Amino acid sequence: MENKQIQIGLIGAGGVGQMHLKHGLMLRDAKITAVADTAKPTLERAKALGIKNIYTDYTEMLKNPQINAVIIALPTHLHHSCALQAAESGKDIFLEKPITVDVQEAKEVISAAQRNSVKLMLGYPMRFNRRFLKLKADMAEGLIGDPENVHATYVCAGPFVHRADGHSPAPVPDWWFNTQFSGGGALADLGCHIINLLRMLFGEIVDIKGQFGYRYNMDFEDSAMCLARFTSGTLAAINVGWYAQEYLLRLDVLGSVRNVSVGHMPPKTMPAAYQMLTHGISEFNQPHFDELQYFVNCLHTDQEPTPTGLDGLRDLEAITKAYRNKITL
Ligand SMILES: NC(=O)c1ccc[n+]([C@@H]2O[C@H](COP(=O)([O-])OP(=O)(O)OC[C@H]3O[C@@H](n4cnc5c(N)ncnc54)[C@H](O)[C@@H]3O)[C@@H](O)[C@H]2O)c1
Repeated sequence: MENKQIQIGLIGAGGVGQMHLKHGLMLRDAKITAVADTAKPTLERAKALGIKNIYTDYTEMLKNPQINAVIIALPTHLHHSCALQAAESGKDIFLEKPITVDVQEAKEVISAAQRNSVKLMLGYPMRFNRRFLKLKADMAEGLIGDPENVHATYVCAGPFVHRADGHSPAPVPDWWFNTQFSGGGALADLGCHIINLLRMLFGEIVDIKGQFGYRYNMDFEDSAMCLARFTSGTLAAINVGWYAQEYLLRLDVLGSVRNVSVGHMPPKTMPAAYQMLTHGISEFNQPHFDELQYFVNCLHTDQEPTPTGLDGLRDLEAITKAYRNKITL
């Protein structure tokens, strides 16, 4: 695919899809040229950004031979059927986390991508956060020594306000409140980011157990604390929750040589506005842009992008195991 501008179709331009759309207009050697969404106002917003090819039915978009690849940012229960159809249509796929709502569906998505020789990358922006990449490099150089323990924290307001503009609440799409559609609560949503990041740093999960919180009395957890053992020997305490207005995503790595704390923090409003004005992307959203640019680069150079479908499956297996292995206190 060298020397050719890759044309990307975005399927689902809601919360995270809107961000992908803006980034997709700034990519090198690729561009989002089509958007599919069932919501008319969302398609109007896409049109206002200059997107000419809009679809209410993504299966029509998949028939468009000009489209080389798709970003799937649909509610999680729709990932499976959409990814299968995209693979059958020969489109390379960037699929939002979590891969699917269950392990069997995840395996089917991976098989479909392999069968149709299309690339499949999972959307896990923290793997592209430059601070976490530096932590990985420092660990490889032995600067931290043996990473004995890690405290991994990801707390925020979750789906309740993450789609708002920071000044006013916004309605939460219903699917977030039904685990058949979302695959779970805070552990499925936030925990998969953390588990994926920890797997990049400490290897595979050997065992995991979880304690769950139900502050909002829903039939899914709004917080979880898990203990996980990795193949590196590291023991991780994974602490996730949808209860906090104050966003915190941080790893505290306690090593035999050094202790380090590395985070992904939203900048204050003014620095973020300055970054947007000067650069078009805030530091907070940079990993989201970098993952898309990397996906495009892999398509141009015919490399298999990571995180792979198998990574998405491993994360989901760990979450499923934590739900099964409950710690009761
Ligand atoms: N990587 C991240 O940091 C991150 C952040 C947020 C969400 N996500 C993931 O992205 C996915 C979407 O989450 P969201 O919060 O953006 O959801 P959302 O509900 O805000 O957006 C989903 C969009 O899909 C559209 N849609 C629904 N059914 C459709 C269909 N059949 N055909 C076409 N369009 C359809 C909706 O109209 C909506 O615009 C989820 O899997 C979520 O876990 C990832």
